[in-house]
Amino acid sequence: MTLIDRYAVFGHPIKHSKSPRIHRLFAEQTGQALEYTAQDVPAEQFSTAAEKFFNEGGKGLNCTVPLKELAWSYADNKTERAQLSKAVNTLALQADGSILGDNTDGIGLVTDLVTNHAIILSGIRILILGAGGASRGIIAPILEQSPQTLVIANRTVDKAVKLATEFHGRGSVTGCGFDTLKTRQFDLILNATSASLSDQLPPLPADLLAPGGVCYDLAYANEPTTFVRWGLENHAAKSLDGLGMLVEQAAEAFFIWRGVRPKTRPVIELLNAERQL
Ligand code: ATR
Repeated sequence: MTLIDRYAVFGHPIKHSKSPRIHRLFAEQTGQALEYTAQDVPAEQFSTAAEKFFNEGGKGLNCTVPLKELAWSYADNKTERAQLSKAVNTLALQADGSILGDNTDGIGLVTDLVTNHAIILSGIRILILGAGGASRGIIAPILEQSPQTLVIANRTVDKAVKLATEFHGRGSVTGCGFDTLKTRQFDLILNATSASLSDQLPPLPADLLAPGGVCYDLAYANEPTTFVRWGLENHAAKSLDGLGMLVEQAAEAFFIWRGVRPKTRPVIELLNAERQL
C-alpha cells in the first residue's frame, strides 16, 4: 500500500488560512497526489507537534504566525535566505532524514511585484514601513533587485536602524523614524507593520508617494486594508495587498517539496474572484 504524502500548515490562529486551498489547487493543477491540512498549534506546542508530524511520515510543513522563529530554531539546516531572515515558513524533510528550513516570503513578494505586476525594482526608491519579522524577511530579496535606495521606517527608530545595519553589505539601506519621511518621496511603499490588522496606519506625510508610485500591503483581507485605502487616496498607480505574495510564497514551498512549479496566475485570479463575491 502506498501512503499519500502529507503536508500541513501550523499556526495560531489557523482557521482562516488559505494555504490548504492554495496547495490543493496546486496539487490538482500539477497532478501531484498529496494531502495538505491546517493544524492549530500554539507556540508552546510547536516542537512537540512538529516532531510528531515528521515521525508519523509527514513530508513538509508551512509555519505561520507566531511560529516562524520557532521553525527557524527547529530546522537542522537552513537556506541562506532563511538564515538572513531569522524566520522559517517552510520545513522540508530531506532524503537523509534531516529537516531543511527555508523562507519563501521574500521571493514570494518579489515575484508578485516583478512578474505579476510588472514593477521594475531596479533603480527605484523603496520604503518599507515596519522593522519586525515581516520586514526582515523581505530585505535581502529586495536588495538583490538593486533599488536606488531602500529605507526602513519604524515607530521604534532603533529597531529600524539596527535592522538596516545588518544588511549594509548588500546594498543601499538605511533605517529611520516616521518623522524623517516628511521631506522624502518613494516610488514603492511596502507596509510590513502589523498596524493594518488593527485598522491603524503609521503617520505618513501626504506627499510621501511619488507620482505614479505603487503601494503594497504585505497583509491581505477580503476588504481593502487601511494601507491599501491610503494608497488609493494618495493617487497610487497601483495599491495592492498581499494575496499575490501569499500564493507566490506557497508556490515556492510547493516547488521545494515536489520539484514542480505550479502556475500561480489562475490560483490568484480564483482567490481574487472569490473575495469579490
Ligand atoms: P511581524 O512579525 O508581523 O513583523 P512584529 O515583529 O511584532 O510582527 O512587528 C510588528 C511591526 O509593526 C513593528 O515594526 C511595529 O513597530 P514597533 O517596532 O515600533 O513596535 C509595527 N507596528 C505595529 N503596530 C503599529 C502601529 N499602530 N503604528 C506603527 N507601527 C506599528
